[in-house]
Amino acid sequence: MQLQMDRRRLPIFPAKKRFIQEITRVASAIVIGETGSGKTTQIPQYLLEAGVHKGRTIAVTQPRRVAAITVAQRVAKEVGCEIGEAVGYCVRFDDSSTGASKIRYSVVILDEAHERTIHTDVLFGVVKQAQKQRQMQGTLPLKVIVMSATMDVDHFAEYFNNAEVLYVEGRQFPVKLMYTREAISDYLHTALVTIFQIHQEAPASEDMLVFLTGQEEIEAMVDSIRDIARDLPSTCPALIACPMYAALPANLQLKIFQPVPAGTRKVIVCTNIAETSITIHGIKHVIDTGKVKAKVYNPSINLELLKVHNISQAQAWQRTGRAGREAPGICYRLYTEPEFHKMPENTIPEIQRCNLASVMLQLMALGVRDVVKFDFMDKPSESCLKDAKDCLQLLGALTKEERPKLTDLGRQMAAFPLDPRMAKVIISAKEHGCLEEILTIVAVLSVESVIFTPHNKREEAIGARRKFISHEGDHMTYLNIYRAFKAVDGNKHWCHDNFVNGRNLKTAMEVRRQLREICVRQELPLKSCGTDLSAVRQCFCAGFYMNSAELVADGKYVTLISRKPVAIHPSSALFQCKPGYVIYNELVKTTKCYMRRERISVS
Ligand code: CDP
Ligand code: MG
Repeated sequence: MQLQMDRRRLPIFPAKKRFIQEITRVASAIVIGETGSGKTTQIPQYLLEAGVHKGRTIAVTQPRRVAAITVAQRVAKEVGCEIGEAVGYCVRFDDSSTGASKIRYSVVILDEAHERTIHTDVLFGVVKQAQKQRQMQGTLPLKVIVMSATMDVDHFAEYFNNAEVLYVEGRQFPVKLMYTREAISDYLHTALVTIFQIHQEAPASEDMLVFLTGQEEIEAMVDSIRDIARDLPSTCPALIACPMYAALPANLQLKIFQPVPAGTRKVIVCTNIAETSITIHGIKHVIDTGKVKAKVYNPSINLELLKVHNISQAQAWQRTGRAGREAPGICYRLYTEPEFHKMPENTIPEIQRCNLASVMLQLMALGVRDVVKFDFMDKPSESCLKDAKDCLQLLGALTKEERPKLTDLGRQMAAFPLDPRMAKVIISAKEHGCLEEILTIVAVLSVESVIFTPHNKREEAIGARRKFISHEGDHMTYLNIYRAFKAVDGNKHWCHDNFVNGRNLKTAMEVRRQLREICVRQELPLKSCGTDLSAVRQCFCAGFYMNSAELVADGKYVTLISRKPVAIHPSSALFQCKPGYVIYNELVKTTKCYMRRERISVS
């Protein structure tokens, strides 16, 4: 009952009738409204209640796993059903939707459209094409609804065949903007100082939201906040600091929504995940460092990097808006006003700044022969597309022609929900007779970190895990950890004592089970190579030989293809032993360009 009352209080509620009418009338619509106004949870229910779905399925797509799961849970609760009944969700490696063998969608809602991840952009194109096909065939029409808190409306409306634009009347309170007077060099330090200035001056009921870039940074910041808070004079209010990032275990994520005791301030330190996809109550102060971690791709040297860079103006406004949800607030921008004006207006779509091999393989497997001509909302550059084609040809997924076709290997690779290089590793295991080992390692690489290293117990954690380290590289180390975890049957005390993340390892077991099923369907023989792991190394080389680096004279590495200087990450099993050749899964740029998840390559 309370839930139904809450639904009526949402800003979208007064527009319910009008929205249903408009959406019923048109083929494509765009819905824009502030975060928390009720777009995601209400629109699907409104359409369901009004029968706009014509008895078929309504799909809502989310770029983020956490959002997909929590939204489904919330909607199921409001509808009054269990997850998997009338409301379900499906994310990679976890499907709770009911298995009507062939689902016929009548409405597709593309939510958080502004995020412009590589997957949203491919999806836009595929959905648009499906809609057109159904129109031409005269079969069940497909209604497309695009939703966001912020977007370049004209661009979206034009792409979706002049879609109708519907606005939710927002309830946004004014937010005071504070810029720094001069450009700052250390945003982490400035953020920390700002947090405690606010803490000492503002009433304790006013919570804070701090935007940083990633897990490590956030955990370190939360530790520093807790350390400083411990030594504050008793005249200061109590303070609770909570981290928030996609990889954080779900029970800790929920902490940010829980109320704190009166007289205590909550400080949430988060990634851009809190920009639009989740709603947090009580935020009065926002600290925006102006930074985000994202993939950047340099086609000239075929290098993909995860790197901290400046946000767009649209992102800055979203962050600001988080301070004015329930009352007037303040946003502290840790950059100058001229710096703000130099930021790009909108976020550059990921498709224009990442490796496209995976996209090309997926699209070709869907029957798109000429990916260059595919109707992308923003076309990727020709050099990026050429790189992707080269990469897939090198992996043997495409024929060598000018207008290549998918090979049998390519079709088999597309069956795996993985990066094509990783799929190649799995398929290579057939020749080398080591699929059991490969599946374990790929599963571990597909989940968030299976180890954890608290800042205050670094030495202890590293010491406890020394027994797992393999001098053949990180992949073999993961294999050892996974085997040890299975041997003790996932014992909690064992995980704790060994600084191993049991939850993520359990997820890896589930991922492994699903990958194994695909292998069985693909008739790949499930063999083990026993103690000789050279076969495992050969498989990884087959998939990742483009990501190889060699040791040059003075203990430094350069990548084999582009001769770019790179370094072994200090957390790697290979940090000490410095082999002649290594391959890596990804490059991360912090102070140096680090390779992650390295292993010795066979030369
Ligand atoms: O999509 P939009 O940001 O417009 O709003 P929403 O996600 O539909 O959320 C509407 C309201 O539902 C929020 O203000 C929350 O109070 C509530 N909600 C919730 O309690 N738990 C969730 N997992 C999602 C939403
Ligand atoms: Mg939403």
